[in-house]
Order: sequence, then C-alpha cells, then structure tokens
Amino acid sequence: MSHGYSNSKKTDDICEQVLGQQTSFASRLRCMVRGIDIRVCIVFFVTIPVFIFGIYLHGQKITYFLRPLWESPPKAFHEIPHYYHENVTMETLCKLHGWKIRESPRRVFDAVLFNNEIDILTLRWNELYPHITQFVLLESNSTFTSIPKPLLFAGNRHQFKFIEPRLTYGMIGGRFKKGENPFVEEAYQRVALDQLLRIAGIEDDDLLIMSDVDEIPSAHTINLLRWCDDIPPIIHLQLRNYLYSFEYHLDNKSWRASIHRYNSGKTRYAHYRQADVILSDAGWHCSFCFRYISEFIFKMKAYSHTDRVRFSHYLNPKRIQDVICKGADLFDMIPEEYTFKEIIGKMGPIPHSYSAVHLPAYLLNNAEKYRYLLPGNCKRESG
Ligand SMILES: *[C@@H]1O[C@H](CO)[C@@H](O)[C@H](O)[C@H]1NC(C)=O
Ligand SMILES: *[C@@H]1O[C@H](CO)[C@@H](O)[C@H](O)[C@H]1NC(C)=O
Ligand SMILES: *[C@@H]1O[C@H](CO)[C@@H](O)[C@H](O)[C@H]1NC(C)=O
Repeated sequence: MSHGYSNSKKTDDICEQVLGQQTSFASRLRCMVRGIDIRVCIVFFVTIPVFIFGIYLHGQKITYFLRPLWESPPKAFHEIPHYYHENVTMETLCKLHGWKIRESPRRVFDAVLFNNEIDILTLRWNELYPHITQFVLLESNSTFTSIPKPLLFAGNRHQFKFIEPRLTYGMIGGRFKKGENPFVEEAYQRVALDQLLRIAGIEDDDLLIMSDVDEIPSAHTINLLRWCDDIPPIIHLQLRNYLYSFEYHLDNKSWRASIHRYNSGKTRYAHYRQADVILSDAGWHCSFCFRYISEFIFKMKAYSHTDRVRFSHYLNPKRIQDVICKGADLFDMIPEEYTFKEIIGKMGPIPHSYSAVHLPAYLLNNAEKYRYLLPGNCKRESG
C-alpha cells in the first residue's frame, strides 16, 4: 500500500510541475490516474517487449554464461610432459619420456577430411612431410550440413606436386538429406576415411594421425612418436589454440587431435575423446585461419553448429573484417568454459600476440605469401 502511495505522490509532483499551482482537485486526480496509466503502459508496452527482445538476442549467451551451473567439466586428461630441443638426440628424448628408442621408425599415416582450408593444408603437409609415409585425404561434394560444395582439393591438386607420390586421395558423394543432424553426415564421411586408409595400405602398429586439417602436430612431435617404443596405444595431442591467425593465441587447450598405433580390428577414425593421456605442447590449432572473407562466410554457413549464425548480419563482410581485427568472436558467443572464473577471464577480445616464435617453419620461410597469418596483418582480401 505504502508503495502505491509513494507512486502516486511522485506522479503528483510531476503533474504540479506541468499544470502549475491553480488546478482543481478533479484534474489533479485525473492527472494521477493518467500518471499511473503511463507507468503501467511503460511496463506493458516497453519494458516487457524490451526484456523479451533481449532474451531473443542474448538467450544463448545467458545459457552459456550459466553453463557452470548445469554442466560439469569432463574428466581431466593425464598430461604427459613433453621434452624437446633440436640439439638433444632421439635416444635421450625417448628416455626422458620413459620410452626406449626403436631400431627403425614406425610408418606414419596422416588422414584428414578436407573442407576448404587450402593454405592451412599447405602448412600442414610441409610441416609433416619428412615423417609421413602416406598422406590420406578425403573430400566430399557436400558439407556436413548438406550444402553442395566444389571439390576444392581436386581443383588445386597441381599445387601439391611434392606430395603426389605419397598421396591417397578419395572423393565421396554427399547424401544431401535435408534437415538431418550434421553429425550424421560427418560420421558417414569418417567411415569412408577408414576405408581409404585401408586402401592406402595401413598396417598394425603404424601410427595414424586423426585430426582436422587445421590441427597441425609439430614435426618433432611426430618424429618422437615414430622413433620411440612403448608409447601409449592412443595419445591425444595438446595444441595451442589460435583464432584467425597466429596473432590471436587463445589458450593451449586444444585436445581433439590424437595419434593411434593402428589396430586393424579396433581403430576407427574419430574426432572425440578416445583416451585419458595427452602429450603437452604438441603443435598448433588455427581455427578460421582463412585468407579471404568469402571463406569465412562459407565456413560459418557450413559449420556443424549452424544454430550459431542466428542473424544474417553476422555474415556481413565488413562486420567479419572488424571482428577479425579486434580478435572478437564471429558468432558473438560467450566463451565455452566450465567455471565462472574462466568464462569471465576469457570474455572480450583475444589479446594480440606479437610472438612468431615456434611456428611452423614453412610459414616463416614463406612469410610473404602467408602474411595474413602472421602478427600485425589482420586485413583480409575480399576474394
Ligand atoms: C648444439 O650442439 C653443438 C655441438 O654439440 C654446439 O656447438 C651448439 O652450441 C649447440 N647449440 C645449442 C643451441 O645448444
Ligand atoms: C556429388 O557427387 C556424386 C558422386 O560423384 C554425384 O553423383 C552427385 O551428383 C554430386 N552432387 C552434387 C550436388 O555435386
Ligand atoms: C601456452 O603455453 C606456453 C608454453 O607452455 C606459455 O608460454 C603461454 O603463456 C601459454 N599461452 C596461453 C595463452 O595460455
């Protein structure tokens, strides 16, 4: 009651200012009622719609922010310390990891599902080249979200002459099932990759790298694992996470890439958690590291999580360019973390990094061609 009284009292004051002193009791009452109406109107026709519109715009953010309440973090990995220096012998390196050196190295197969990352594939294959027996690449004319796409690798195969004698290439037609969960098409393509690996001649105890094109193990990591005996049958690789280029170093927590000692009865190509051990500091994961804005747009549309492109202005080239130069998020999302501390710590743009130390050698040897991946070059070509 007292709340209602103070409300009308305030209204009264406003009316007095508007109407002056010499008003009748009746008009003052009318004014009071009108005043209450305006408040009610404001609540019903402004505040509530703004609130609902706010939820529409930011609902996803709110649920992500509250994630620590409804989801607990996955079981932590057992992190294996990683020792490396170019001047230390392989025998010593194996010993530091508690392994023995082999008389000859294992054969290594690098298998990827290719989408449209031509430049990153070039970096990857040049980095790994000295240690790989067969490069296995599968591409489809369908994205995981059933959008038709050109066979970009087939069209650019001439750029990869250096790899040709060690390449097993496969193409698979998409099924184009409208409205299907994108993870089904992805699983279908990974099964085809298993078959392609057998065609490539993989045998038991060969090493198999399972990772996306943009998850690049460092060459010395692969060399260590092929030369040492007694390494775990499956080991994940902890990679440094970068976004847009090596200027934005997000964290060191990429874990999906894994190395398998191939077991013909058991090994299936997958991109999820398959073991509890992870080798520290084993390479780079460069997400959305594209040369052209058009490639960003394509990837945003082809992404398995299509629900992230909630508004069409997200695909506006000028906005994308601004987001890249700020180190902000293309989908305007809250960081996907499991504690409030980490979420808050990671909110806002990624700080710029000016370190180009410990990057793939091929990138530095061809810095002019891949300038956009190096610090200080966020402007993209429209393509
Ligand atoms: C590497 O080893 C060589 C020869 O043993 C030595 O001369 C050189 O200083 C070493 N380099 C580093 C960086 O430790
Ligand atoms: C995709 O490839 C398959 C197999 O080559 C072909 O039959 C199909 O017509 C292609 N679809 C599109 C949309 O290119
Ligand atoms: C990643 O790890 C390196 C070396 O372990 C460390 O120097 C760097 O600060 C870490 N970066 C981030 C963003 O966590």
